[in-house]
Amino acid sequence: MNTTLEHPTYNYKVVRQFAIMTVVWGIIGMTLGVIIASELVWPQLNLGLPWTSFGRLRPLHTNAVIFAFGGSALMGTSYYVVQRTCQTRLFSDKLAAFTFWGWQAVIVAAVVSLPLGYTTTKEYAELEWPINILIAVVWVTYAAVFLMTIKQRKTSHIYVANWFYAAFILTIAVLHIVNNAAIPVTPMYSTSIYAGAVDAMVQWWYGHNAVGFFLTAGFLGMMYYFVPKQAERPVYSYRLSIVHFWALIMVYMWAGPHHLHYTALPNWTQSLGMVLSIILLAPSWGGMINGMMTLSGAWHKLRTDPILRFLVVALSFYGMSTFEGPMMAVKTVNALSHYTDWTIGHVHAGALGWVAMITIGSMYHLIPRLFGRVQMHSVNLIAVHFWLATIGTVLYIASMWVNGIMQGLMWRAINPDGTLMYTFVEAVEASAPGYFVRLIGGLFWVTGMLIMAYNVYMTVKRREAVSEQPAPQAA
Ligand code: HEM
Ligand code: HEM
Repeated sequence: MNTTLEHPTYNYKVVRQFAIMTVVWGIIGMTLGVIIASELVWPQLNLGLPWTSFGRLRPLHTNAVIFAFGGSALMGTSYYVVQRTCQTRLFSDKLAAFTFWGWQAVIVAAVVSLPLGYTTTKEYAELEWPINILIAVVWVTYAAVFLMTIKQRKTSHIYVANWFYAAFILTIAVLHIVNNAAIPVTPMYSTSIYAGAVDAMVQWWYGHNAVGFFLTAGFLGMMYYFVPKQAERPVYSYRLSIVHFWALIMVYMWAGPHHLHYTALPNWTQSLGMVLSIILLAPSWGGMINGMMTLSGAWHKLRTDPILRFLVVALSFYGMSTFEGPMMAVKTVNALSHYTDWTIGHVHAGALGWVAMITIGSMYHLIPRLFGRVQMHSVNLIAVHFWLATIGTVLYIASMWVNGIMQGLMWRAINPDGTLMYTFVEAVEASAPGYFVRLIGGLFWVTGMLIMAYNVYMTVKRREAVSEQPAPQAA
């Protein structure tokens, strides 16, 4: 590594490592998404092998995109933001390096164990107990590095982005440890310490808050730093950001039962989950509006700045998915949407539209700064990536809305004598065109990510030419 790239005060090495792996895991995770999307169009693509079956590759996709792509982006950006806004170096370089290598080891363990069929069967918590112990150790170390860096800050206050990152880090530690409490039976098999409806409730308390804190609060931390930076405007309202923070973290915790409507869960718990999900619209939109309004006076930049476009479109999809979610949490709506592709459409409106877009925008801002460049190798290629990602997202979610509502209506349609109007397989057949359109959307996304990889490669490669200059200051 060229020593001229080292920042005199900050540890950028670990941020660089996480940033590069964000791009790498993004490509791998989304390619897996394309593979399973293809299997839903042409089932024979599973080659008749257990390792390549939909059931095993699906959790590999979710783990790769959420924990490998999203996790690397969150850990990398949080290390960058906490150093810049606290004006101090990371608490410990060694521990930070351990979190990088430890996290990559977790992901490699997932890549090996999931196709082999090792799974706890809990969604988003599929990994078996030895890997879970490693995750807990890495995560607690990450929490220590992040929080101790805040403790030794040179600034008087803690910038709001760090509040969101800290809430994400602490909550994920608690969720992971409580939900994965299990009794090991063999080296790769364990049973949960919870049973029946309690197990389901704990799992969806975990699952929903993984959405709320991993896929939302952490990325809001990213939003609160990179949107003002790229727009070159202060956050619209600092007061609103604080209200946003407390309201969001207090309400998210209670919304989990909306994943278990019409199940063995007590009815009052389901209704409570529904009501708090509807309330959740308010803080979510408060944050979205705060991000959007940060562009006041800078809207014209959207014409020329594709990075800002990524960030703003991410906020739009965040607003859209947090409107859709509360609606789907209403029990009567959920009676139609649950088990259908509508849920999958909602997931990817959040995952592609919000999580991936805000990450990519932030990475395009960050990567040149980390490698001693003024900007990315090609701004035009960022613009191409932006359109591929936006069109890909729209193709994905529109096809899943059509499929989902159609499936829900077909499943509940009955003849005058009370028998079902359609067999299940008829609904599957009717879904095929939608699955094909979703596949095209996925291919748009992967193409965009490959263009990003090329752009990043060229940016990193050319750093030699400018490495004598100091890294541009972002603060
Ligand atoms: C190229 C882009 C992508 C494609 C083609 C894709 C495709 C898919 C497919 C086919 C499924 C299974 C749907 C089913 O079971 O019916 C799925 C599930 C899922 N994907 Fe993706 N995906 C992509 C990107 C992402 C990203 C970036 C994220 C997260 C940041 C993500 C998160 C998820 C989640 C959480 C599920 C499980 C949804 C549920 O259980 O309701 N995906 N994806
Ligand atoms: C106010 C905010 C939100 C609310 C109230 C909400 C509500 C819901 C509801 C009701 C479901 C369907 C549950 C079911 O029928 O099984 C759902 C599923 C899901 N949502 Fe959201 N949502 C919100 C925001 C988001 C965002 C921003 C993301 C992603 C970044 C997201 C990711 C997911 C995922 C991954 C699932 C699928 C879980 C599964 O595997 O079954 N949600 N959400």
